[in-house]
Amino acid sequence: MTIETLVEESKQKGAEFITHKGTIHSVNPPETLFGYTYWAHAIPPIKPESMLVLGYGSGTVPKLVRKIFGNSFECHGIDLAIPSPQDHDIVVQSEAFKFVMECDRKYDYICVDLWNGGKCEEFVVWDKKFIENLKRIAGRFVSLNISPPKNYHEHVQLYKDAGFNPDRFVIIQNQIIEWYSV
Ligand SMILES: C[S@@+](CC[C@H](N)C(=O)[O-])C[C@H]1O[C@@H](n2cnc3c(N)ncnc32)[C@H](O)[C@@H]1O
Repeated sequence: MTIETLVEESKQKGAEFITHKGTIHSVNPPETLFGYTYWAHAIPPIKPESMLVLGYGSGTVPKLVRKIFGNSFECHGIDLAIPSPQDHDIVVQSEAFKFVMECDRKYDYICVDLWNGGKCEEFVVWDKKFIENLKRIAGRFVSLNISPPKNYHEHVQLYKDAGFNPDRFVIIQNQIIEWYSV
């Protein structure tokens, strides 16, 4: 059984996968293939009061968070593309790096999910300015969805140097979901 077979089976049962350049970005209903895909691993351990999703897509992660913790938290989403209207979330069309530089508040939980056509934005992995400003606006937890970089320890060290604690790393196929706390 491969993930492709499972995706095919889920489609036949009515699941809708939202793809970009052949890469799956989001899914409806959000619990499709729960645990086999990365979205399920981007649910925070406690209910956030406020959540920011950098790379909102079609909002699979916030939908899952709401299934677990209910609707009594605010969620802001950032994306280059204008997403379809969302019931609970405020989604703004913006570039994520620029947004983080200019953001003047903190969020309990920040989900960094800037995956585009099979590859994550490099600044998430390597850019000190991005990482330091992410730390500045991080209230409690941050998750990153990235491909494992070659110099893995150097990448994690940048997050440690900025004041993040590496908490939990989950490998899902060719992606790593990294969890940091502040
Ligand atoms: C994997 S999808 C996100 C899936 C989404 N988090 C979910 O839960 O359904 C990645 C998203 O990041 C967005 N993206 C990529 N680079 C970006 C950037 N520099 N600024 C803002 N959004 C970006 C893409 O448009 C895409 O919608």
